[in-house]
Amino acid sequence: MMYFEGKKYNVVTYGCQMNVHESEKISGILQDLGMTLVNEPELADVVVFNTCCIREGAEDRAFSNIAALKKCKAKNPDMIIAVCGCMPQQKQGKYDLKKKLPFVDIVIGTHNVNMLGAYLTRVVDTKKRVYEVVDTPIDLSENKTTIRDDKINAYVNIIYGCNKFCTYCIVPHVRGRERSRPYEDIKAEVKDLVSKGYRYITLLGQNVNSYGKDLNNGMTFASLLTKLCQIEGEFKLKFMTSHPIDFNKDIIKVMKREPKVAKCLHLPVQSGNSDVLFRMNRHYNIRHYNKLIKATKRGVKNVSLSTDIIVGFPGESEKAFEDTVKLLKKVKYDQVFAFMYSKRTGKPASILPNQIDESVKNKRLNKLLREQKFISKQMLNDCVGKTYNCLVVVHNGVTMGLTDGGREIYLPNDSNALENHFVDIKVEGIRNHKLSGVIKCQKSHQ
Ligand code: 5AD
Ligand code: SF4
Repeated sequence: MMYFEGKKYNVVTYGCQMNVHESEKISGILQDLGMTLVNEPELADVVVFNTCCIREGAEDRAFSNIAALKKCKAKNPDMIIAVCGCMPQQKQGKYDLKKKLPFVDIVIGTHNVNMLGAYLTRVVDTKKRVYEVVDTPIDLSENKTTIRDDKINAYVNIIYGCNKFCTYCIVPHVRGRERSRPYEDIKAEVKDLVSKGYRYITLLGQNVNSYGKDLNNGMTFASLLTKLCQIEGEFKLKFMTSHPIDFNKDIIKVMKREPKVAKCLHLPVQSGNSDVLFRMNRHYNIRHYNKLIKATKRGVKNVSLSTDIIVGFPGESEKAFEDTVKLLKKVKYDQVFAFMYSKRTGKPASILPNQIDESVKNKRLNKLLREQKFISKQMLNDCVGKTYNCLVVVHNGVTMGLTDGGREIYLPNDSNALENHFVDIKVEGIRNHKLSGVIKCQKSHQ
C-alpha cells in the first residue's frame, strides 16, 4: 500500500527468543510495506509492541510503555499503535487492552501476527480499530521477509506451541498445541542462512525435543539435528528450549558426534526439589534430571550448561529452596536464569495452598543469585588449561574467541586474520577476571 511508503516504524519486544524472532518477521512485514526503521518509538509513524505475559512484571512493563505513547499519539493522530503477541492472546487480554489502552489501533494475538500488514491497511482505509484475536493459527504461509538483528546468529523456528501444561505456565494457553515445521522448510531456511554467512543457527521452540512427534513420519529432534549437520558450510547449530522429560540419550549422542552441534545445553530444571517438581507438573524428579546432566557431561566434552529456576513456587519450604541451591553447586551451570514465581490467573498453581510472600521470594532470589555469582567465579578457574572450539570475533579492535556457551577468551591481536572462523583455543590464564588463550590449530567444519 502506497500510504506506508517512506513512513517510519519501530518494534518494541518483550519476552523470549521466540518473540525476538517474531519481531524480526514483523520488521520484515513493515519493510515490505516500504517503511524504514527508527530507533525511538516516539519518532515512528507505526509502533508495534510485541508482548509477553509469562510474569506479571513483563505485562506491567509493556502496559506502562504503551501508555507512555499516548502523548505522542495526541500530537500525531496519524500514528498507528499495534499490540500483538502473548498478552492479547490470554483469555481476558484483548478486553483488558481495549479498556485500559483505548488509543491503541490494532490488538492481535500470537496466531495472526503475519496478517499485520493487512490489518494496518484496514486501519488506514476504514479509520476503525482492529481487535482480532483468534484461537488457532491462520494463514500458515511462511518465507516472509525477515529482518535479522544479529549478523552472527540466526533464529529458525522448528516447532511452535507446547503440550506440557506446567501448573505455573501460561505458554500453552497463548501459543497453542505443538506444531512441528516440515523438515524441508527448515532445511531450506538453514541452507539459505549458512550461504549468507551466519555462523550460528539457533533452532527455536518452546520444547524443541518434541520435534516430529506430530509429523508421523519417524522424524525426531535427534534425526533433525543429524540431517541439518549434513548441510555444507562453516556453521554450528544451537537449540532452545529443551525439556528434561524429552531430552534423551539420542540427542546427547548427536551432540557428542557432530562437530556442527554447539557444545551447549539449556536444560531448565525449575527446582532442585522433587516435591516441588511434582506440583509444577514437570513429569520428572531430581534423580532423573541429575542422570541427564551426568550423561551430558560424560558424553559432551567441556559442555556449557544453563538453566531456568523459579523460586517461591507455592509450598516451597526453606529446605526445598536449599535443594535448588545445592543443585546449582553440584551441576555448575555457566548461566542461571532465575525468576520469582508469578501468579498467572487461571493456572492451577495460582490456587495452590501456601503461596509464598513476595519478601521471601525476593530474599531467596537474591541468595540464589549470590551463590551462582560465587560458582561462576570458581568456574572461570576451571576453564584454564581446557580447549574450546570458538568463533573468532573482533570487537573494537580487540580479538577474542567466543565459546559455544558464549564465554569470551581474549586472544593475541595478531589472531584477527581468523576473524569469523571457528578455531580451537586453549585457555592459558585469567587476566582482569577474563580468560586469555591461544589458538591451537585451525579447525573449520566445512
Ligand atoms: N512465574 C515465574 N517464572 C515463570 N516461568 C514460566 N512461568 C513462570 C511464572 N508463572 C519461567 C520458567 C521458564 C522461563 C521461560 O520462565 O523458568 O522456563
Ligand atoms: Fe513470554 Fe512465553 Fe510468550 Fe515467550 S512464549 S513471549 S516467554 S509468554
